[in-house]
Amino acid sequence: MMRAAVITRVLRMAPDMVTLYFEDEECSKASPGQYAMIWIPGGEEIPMSLSTINPGGESSLTVRDVGEATKTLCDMKEGDKVGVRGPFGRGYTVSGDSPLLVAGGTGVASLAPLAEAFVERGVKPTFILGAKTESDLAFRDRLENLLGDSVVLATDDGSCGFEGFSSQCAVKLMDEGSPDIIYTCGPELMMVSVFDEAESRGIPVQASLERYIKCAHGLCGSCAIGPYRVCMDGPVFDSEKLREVREDFGSRKMDPTGKIVGVDH
Ligand SMILES: Cc1cc2nc3c(=O)[nH]c(=O)nc-3n(C[C@H](O)[C@H](O)[C@H](O)COP(=O)(O)OP(=O)(O)OC[C@H]3O[C@@H](n4cnc5c(N)ncnc54)[C@H](O)[C@@H]3O)c2cc1C
Ligand code: FES
Repeated sequence: MMRAAVITRVLRMAPDMVTLYFEDEECSKASPGQYAMIWIPGGEEIPMSLSTINPGGESSLTVRDVGEATKTLCDMKEGDKVGVRGPFGRGYTVSGDSPLLVAGGTGVASLAPLAEAFVERGVKPTFILGAKTESDLAFRDRLENLLGDSVVLATDDGSCGFEGFSSQCAVKLMDEGSPDIIYTCGPELMMVSVFDEAESRGIPVQASLERYIKCAHGLCGSCAIGPYRVCMDGPVFDSEKLREVREDFGSRKMDPTGKIVGVDH
């Protein structure tokens, strides 16, 4: 059932990224890594990770403007309404004593609530917060307040922190430290690189995948990857499943018409 949610607060995170806060009882009970289907009145319905999960309180979406639906969301103001279904899918499993979380771009949306879940259990993860440039580093204050110097900043252009991709920074930390599990969300090619490097060191991974999600109920098949459907079997896949879909992971996906196309980012 779709529910109406009123936007209570809008926070600009970067020139092309906003966080929209709203109250919804079901979303406030979600697990880190789950997503909601967001319907824009008169427009499309698209999947969005829940970037704030506050039991009994506010939830949020963190949206990057990449097309028509996301642009409409990025232009929303306090008091505007969206339709919400969900939360859906399998989120992250919280495990390990020295986890490494690797976020690229809007991937931070799905990993920030996971960092909070770890802290609630008395574990302080290392968090790589990566973006193209310093002004794109979303939730920097929220994460630094939570994790202090366990937040490692990385920018592609070197304007802040490590110079290079989050995945390159992750390799450095895999070699210097000893993460016993890695969680990643961001551009697919970045996640493939994190997965391959972790595999060669025997470190388990949980990665949040993106495919074209329409029904979110496992019915239409538009989100298929190997034998799985991202909408229900994911979006979070563990190393065992990632090995099974490795041929498609980082290489092939379906476009909205069902045609197989390459993964280019
Ligand atoms: C589980 C999941 C969680 C996501 N979480 C976030 C998030 O937290 N923040 C965020 O900014 N983006 C997130 N996305 C991506 C977001 O859903 C797409 O960027 C958005 O649907 C693009 O729609 P558009 O109309 O603005 O752009 P379009 O021009 O329609 O598309 C731009 C790109 O998004 C892809 N896309 C379009 N519609 C869908 C769809 N229904 N399902 C999947 N991909 C689609 C297209 O294939 C294309 O690559 C998530 C996607 C998934 C699958
Ligand atoms: S979106 Fe329809 S099967 Fe996954």
